[in-house]
Amino acid sequence: MCDRAAMSKPTPEPSLFIIFGGTGDLARRKLLPALARLAHEDQLGNCHVVGVTRETHYDDESYRAFVSDALDAAGLTEDQRGALCASRLHFQTIGPGTEADFKALGVRLAALEERHGLAQNRTFYLSLPPKAFQGTMEGLANVGLDESNGWTRLVVEKPFGRDLATAQELNAITHRCFREEQVYRIDHYLGKETVQNLLVFRFANTIFESMWNRERVESVMITVSESLGLGTRSGYYDGIGALRDMVQNHLTQLLTLVAMEPPSSFDAEAIRYEKIKVLKSMAPIDPSKVVRGQYDHGTIDGEKVPGYLEEEGVPMTSSTETFVAMQLEIDNWRWKGVPFYLRSGKRLAAKSSQIAVRFRDVPVSLFRSMGAKLDTTDVLIITLQPDEGFSMHLDVKAPGEPFRTKQIPLEFRYADRFEEIPPAYQTLLLNVLHGDQTLFVHADEVERSWHLYTPLLENPPIIHRYRAGSWGPKEAGHLGIPETDLWQVDGQ
Ligand code: BG6
Repeated sequence: MCDRAAMSKPTPEPSLFIIFGGTGDLARRKLLPALARLAHEDQLGNCHVVGVTRETHYDDESYRAFVSDALDAAGLTEDQRGALCASRLHFQTIGPGTEADFKALGVRLAALEERHGLAQNRTFYLSLPPKAFQGTMEGLANVGLDESNGWTRLVVEKPFGRDLATAQELNAITHRCFREEQVYRIDHYLGKETVQNLLVFRFANTIFESMWNRERVESVMITVSESLGLGTRSGYYDGIGALRDMVQNHLTQLLTLVAMEPPSSFDAEAIRYEKIKVLKSMAPIDPSKVVRGQYDHGTIDGEKVPGYLEEEGVPMTSSTETFVAMQLEIDNWRWKGVPFYLRSGKRLAAKSSQIAVRFRDVPVSLFRSMGAKLDTTDVLIITLQPDEGFSMHLDVKAPGEPFRTKQIPLEFRYADRFEEIPPAYQTLLLNVLHGDQTLFVHADEVERSWHLYTPLLENPPIIHRYRAGSWGPKEAGHLGIPETDLWQVDGQ
């Protein structure tokens, strides 16, 4: 059983949580529901929320109605909705974002702090399109809202640039306005419980860590597949593609957690230092080891779905990839020679995120001569979603004669042991309120990651077609990537 009380952190200090883009999609679907759940679990403390938008037609009252609808639509219970009660919710317009507008925001924040005894602790959450980042950060800094008598934190949503040059520029702008210790770059994969569990799994269990190297591991495959297509997101996605949207951030974060050395302690600085070291050890990507794909029409779960080029808002000539698979190498002592495969795509056969670590064969196959169906490599599968947990298949002797072996699963499922898994945003927002940067992406990680992928973006390999509902273009098979969700384990 999950012992929530033992897991929860102390109550955060009183603060204001200011959401730029307070009526946007992310606020509605993720941020406000996460805040309400935290309030319901008594983990929010004396925190007041200020929704900020350019729109001027909202006031406190209509914003409260908006939030109430959003929580309703997110499926929260009445108790959860009630926890983010109206008296905690406020609205402030930022109009066109002039100096006077930011000054007015400052005046409003100070007034709220005085009224509610909030000690000038402030989180500014930029839930905004990237083009609005610079103006907002500069607007805040110009009127002195980058610092206060308490703490000031800035939360930024991806994308952090489109390539190395734009990421460097964005980091430079950010650092002109805020210090790195104030900045929380969100990669929502880091908020997933099973992703955090990777560290516990590796560093709290000697059994795996002692095998976690080139001597024992044959290859590692990280898959994040989605069955959904583009939906209404063509405006954002077309021209961005799977490499920028998924691989550069989420899959690369997973790779660094799988490959990193043990940190000197379990704190943000030590962990991020080790992740950056992995990125610095990545060998340049060989373009012949990269497969890009774009989905054609097909059938998923019995439903006919259109191809990418038929999606609304996508130009017929688009060469944006909706699938990418690649083989990477890490040139360091631990991993030299072990291929790391990354694979991600939309409109694949199923939604599944998993890390498969394939161990080397036993040196001598003792049982083959006895007709045993063997030479089965052991694969450890860490499933991030759905059905979080891990599994491994072991060979055992089946009872009786003739001599036979059988693979049996060794499995752990979160759902069997724990009551609930908090949504990623709930975990991340709580960590922001506690000032813990462990689950957030450092500026150097962003740049290192773009450094790795930018040559590919500049010279993208050709696009292959794949049928919606398949596991991607067959060319991915040439990399050693199977046309299934997993390496099939014999005897399964
Ligand atoms: C987002 C991408 O970062 O992650 C989306 O922009 C993608 O395109 C989503 O669908 C996947 O997240 P999850 O948590 O559903 O795996």
